[in-house]
Amino acid sequence: MSEDTMIVRGRLLWFHREPLGADDEAAFTYADDGGLVCRDGRIVWAGDWADLPAAHRGADHADHRPHLILPGFVDPHIHFPQGQVVASYAGSLLEWLNTYTFIEEQKYADPHFAAAMAHRFCDMLLAHGTTTCVAFGSVHKASANALLAEAATRHMRLVTGKVMMDRNAPEALTDTAQSGYDDTKALIDQWHGQGRLEVAISPRFALTSTDAQMEASGALAREHPDCLIQTHLSENHGEIEAVAALFPDALDYTDVYERFGLLTQKSLMGHCIHLSAREIERMADTGAVAVFCPTSNLFLGSGLFDLDRIRGGGVRTAIATDIGGGTSWSLLKALDEGYKVLNLQGHRYHPFRAFWQATRGNAEAIGMADRIGTLDAGTEADFIVLDATATDAMALRMETAETLAEELFVLQTLGDDRAVRASYVAGRVAHTAR
Ligand code: GUN
Ligand code: ZN
Repeated sequence: MSEDTMIVRGRLLWFHREPLGADDEAAFTYADDGGLVCRDGRIVWAGDWADLPAAHRGADHADHRPHLILPGFVDPHIHFPQGQVVASYAGSLLEWLNTYTFIEEQKYADPHFAAAMAHRFCDMLLAHGTTTCVAFGSVHKASANALLAEAATRHMRLVTGKVMMDRNAPEALTDTAQSGYDDTKALIDQWHGQGRLEVAISPRFALTSTDAQMEASGALAREHPDCLIQTHLSENHGEIEAVAALFPDALDYTDVYERFGLLTQKSLMGHCIHLSAREIERMADTGAVAVFCPTSNLFLGSGLFDLDRIRGGGVRTAIATDIGGGTSWSLLKALDEGYKVLNLQGHRYHPFRAFWQATRGNAEAIGMADRIGTLDAGTEADFIVLDATATDAMALRMETAETLAEELFVLQTLGDDRAVRASYVAGRVAHTAR
């Protein structure tokens, strides 16, 4: 047997499409006693342990029973330079940005600091069961370089880019339309498509870019149509008013991005809390993704994301942590607070739908569901082991849980990094619980 073969046993769960309801068990595969065979970073076989191919029977394997094995979580909106901004005492978005975030991000001009933080950032992701993220860097090219280099050494699938911002920020944190374009281009040339890495075109948000920079971002998007675009949209009322004043010709906030060619099926639009019917229609028509960031939206008092309205309008969606406006690195906590946000609006967030979103759904949102977010044979072997009895409170509650949906809902409501027993990246153990 190849030395690079890894076999794991446990309770497998992975989704094929968005579940339509609580009874939609055709949307996923669940194997009560299942096995995965991984070789050279990929899953080569997944199924019932009893059907394990003869060549592997009796081989060494990691036995994770009775725990669940799921595809690794995908976090499609997180800020690399904000690990030390989390839990900063601010009222709302613009105060939080100006008081803490735009100060902290200046540290990432230093490549040594950025490299040290990139190491810790990846440790944090994996400890929380996140095996892929799409991350904003700081304005400095060095920040994106540091994170991409760190991800490369760990064989992680990861997307990042340096943010472009040429106004309404401290001078030490601004680029220009030209340097933002040049630096992004250099990152793309060096990293995009190398191994498991990609570069995202990252105009921070309309408030911190001039028309010239928005145009430069649009040029990058046209020249590199396979690159993701990440930005922020309609998060906070003060922000929306300021954007309207800066772009008086635009119909609304969404139109600012659309005018500059930044609203496409590659666009990840963080927040999307206060969209009009017209904006929802444009998002749906262009295929742009609305990224739900519940812990951040609650912490910064930004508002309640209306998942059912947005999804009902035909818009693609994702769910994310938004560290450091967000208060937890755990996608489980995002699902928990997402549930509460929906409940406040008279809806619920069924665990099948929630776990689909955090795995395959988010992979679909970033165009990678053929590679990650699933346990299908042939895909990349990024998966996590989840323990629904990880804390005393979870164990107590689990004594009365009878169904898979109940177990998932315990993980969704009470889980965090303590529920992550192990994370595997490209078929190898990348994190184990202490
Ligand atoms: N809008 C522009 N920048 C940011 C940021 O860093 N975090 C959040 N939550 N919103 C933003
Ligand atoms: Zn953000």
